Amino acid sequence: MSPFRVSVAVCCALVVVAALPFSDAQLDPSFYNKTCPTVHSIVRDVIRNVSKSDPRMLASLVRLHFHDCFVQGCDGSILLNDTATIVSEQTAAPNNNSIRGLDVVNQIKTAVENSCPGVVSCADILALAAEISSVLAHGPDWKVPLGRKDSLTANKTLANQNLPAPFFNLTLLKAAFVAQGLNTTDLVALSGAHTFGRAHCSTFVSRLYNFSGTGNPDPTLNTTYLQTLRAICPNGGPGTNLTNFDPTTPDTFDKNYYSNLQIQKGLLQSDQELFSTTGADTIGIVNSFSSNQTLFFENFKASMIKMSKIGVLTGSQGEIRKQCNFVNGDSSGLASLATKESSDDGMVSSI
Ligand code: HEM
Ligand SMILES: *[C@@H]1O[C@H](CO)[C@@H](O)[C@H](O)[C@H]1NC(C)=O
Ligand SMILES: *[C@@H]1O[C@H](CO)[C@@H](O)[C@H](O)[C@H]1NC(C)=O
Ligand SMILES: *[C@@H]1O[C@H](CO)[C@@H](O)[C@H](O)[C@H]1NC(C)=O
Ligand SMILES: *[C@@H]1O[C@H](CO)[C@@H](O)[C@H](O)[C@H]1NC(C)=O
Ligand SMILES: *[C@@H]1O[C@H](CO)[C@@H](O)[C@H](O)[C@H]1NC(C)=O
Ligand SMILES: *[C@@H]1O[C@H](CO)[C@@H](O)[C@H](O)[C@H]1NC(C)=O
Ligand SMILES: *[C@@H]1O[C@H](CO)[C@@H](O)[C@H](O)[C@H]1NC(C)=O
Ligand SMILES: *[C@@H]1O[C@H](CO)[C@@H](O)[C@H](O)[C@H]1NC(C)=O
Ligand SMILES: *[C@@H]1O[C@H](CO)[C@@H](O)[C@H](O)[C@H]1NC(C)=O
Ligand SMILES: *[C@@H]1O[C@H](CO)[C@@H](O)[C@H](O)[C@H]1NC(C)=O
Ligand SMILES: *[C@@H]1O[C@H](CO)[C@@H](O)[C@H](O)[C@H]1NC(C)=O
Repeated sequence: MSPFRVSVAVCCALVVVAALPFSDAQLDPSFYNKTCPTVHSIVRDVIRNVSKSDPRMLASLVRLHFHDCFVQGCDGSILLNDTATIVSEQTAAPNNNSIRGLDVVNQIKTAVENSCPGVVSCADILALAAEISSVLAHGPDWKVPLGRKDSLTANKTLANQNLPAPFFNLTLLKAAFVAQGLNTTDLVALSGAHTFGRAHCSTFVSRLYNFSGTGNPDPTLNTTYLQTLRAICPNGGPGTNLTNFDPTTPDTFDKNYYSNLQIQKGLLQSDQELFSTTGADTIGIVNSFSSNQTLFFENFKASMIKMSKIGVLTGSQGEIRKQCNFVNGDSSGLASLATKESSDDGMVSSI
């Protein structure tokens, strides 16, 4: 939060203490208890249905919340499409041909609007969808703080700047998280989300054939796993093949991510860095999560809640979007929506 906003909040709180409960960006799990008491079950029913035919969607929705929060806060900015006034984050390098679930979010929004029109923000839907996806994949549950508003802007430049890259070393990873108010424990706990979902060959292929321009594979990559990955990702191929983050339980949210790191089976360089960086303070955390799933889950919950509060808009800030892909009243967006709806085949994306 900016110093400016803090001083405004303090000043107003002094004047009208009781009248401005939103003066200091408060989120609350019971925010929709009166205005949309069924929101959680509506979101859950859509996701459960979709995940029957597309189990990977649970991972994709967790990632979507992360990619929202790291770019000007958890404000639904990632959902905004290109229009005359919006430069979408969806084609920023970390997102292009990579994020999934935009259509599912729209399905959820439609279902929620049917029961509680104009009440639930798209940013809150992303936060709820992440928690529900964790639970449906047998991961932890937590009370999701709610009451976010949706942004009026997106920032593609910031998406390119803030989202960590798969070739980041530990120094760069820590810096990317510190920039969001997240510490080393949060980095290790949240990276555990790579216990499910898939990655494209392009995000790790340099580790297989020519790591950091050495002409050799990454020495911290298990040689058995190296052969497996080379078979999936041929040298000089298009990089579009997919592989599981977790070779043993690909769609289950468990602590295997950390035991994989211990046997040099981290898929991305950014994963293996947490365990294979000499003398790093992350090694002990990886070991503790690997030996105690309860400990991992407790830390994951706490870090997800922390992440979900980054830069949120509350109270009179922002708006509740009617359609998650467009700012209210963006007529250039509504025009493209009309075209879009008449041609929508409802297919689940497979990128
Ligand atoms: C620590 C830095 C991180 C880096 C460098 C990173 C990078 C990546 C990359 C490159 C992919 C594969 C994308 C593709 O090939 O299309 C991916 C997938 C994924 N990431 Fe991360 N990520 C990080 C942290 C996180 C965090 C904090 C979360 C959530 C809490 C997360 C959740 C996921 C999930 C669930 C997938 C699989 C998505 C799917 O299958 O659709 N990641 N990540
Ligand atoms: C809101 O609803 C949830 C779930 O029904 C319940 O656990 C919680 O106690 C309620 N909170 C308030 C403040 O009424
Ligand atoms: C569930 O998903 C199927 C497609 O897989 C769709 O036809 C159906 O309408 C969905 N039902 C609900 C309640 O979302
Ligand atoms: C928004 O853009 C995405 C691609 O980034 C596209 O799949 C989707 O159909 C668009 N949504 C609308 C409502 O036009
Ligand atoms: C995004 O991916 C498409 C291919 O699907 C490509 O044509 C386009 O140039 C990419 N955009 C950016 C900004 O990289
Ligand atoms: C996007 O973020 C960058 C980097 O912080 C900033 O310089 C720029 O003004 C922002 N652009 C918009 C459209 O908000
Ligand atoms: C991490 O990468 C950055 C950028 O390439 C580099 O400046 C830094 O020296 C690296 N840190 C370590 C510990 O290797
Ligand atoms: C990270 O922050 C949490 C509180 O959000 C704290 O409990 C934990 O000790 C911190 N970890 C480190 C390594 O500073
Ligand atoms: C590995 O990458 C470096 C730097 O990009 C390049 O100069 C070198 O030719 C590559 N080596 C092989 C064997 O491809
Ligand atoms: C990966 O892609 C290549 C083409 O680049 C294809 O020949 C190969 O069969 C694919 N491998 C797997 C396991 O999908
Ligand atoms: C590589 O993986 C195998 C299991 O596939 C394991 O037995 C071995 O210990 C691992 N090697 C290293 C160096 O961790
Ligand atoms: C695992 O972690 C939990 C949560 O911190 C703790 O209560 C429990 O004692 C730990 N179990 C073991 C065997 O250390």
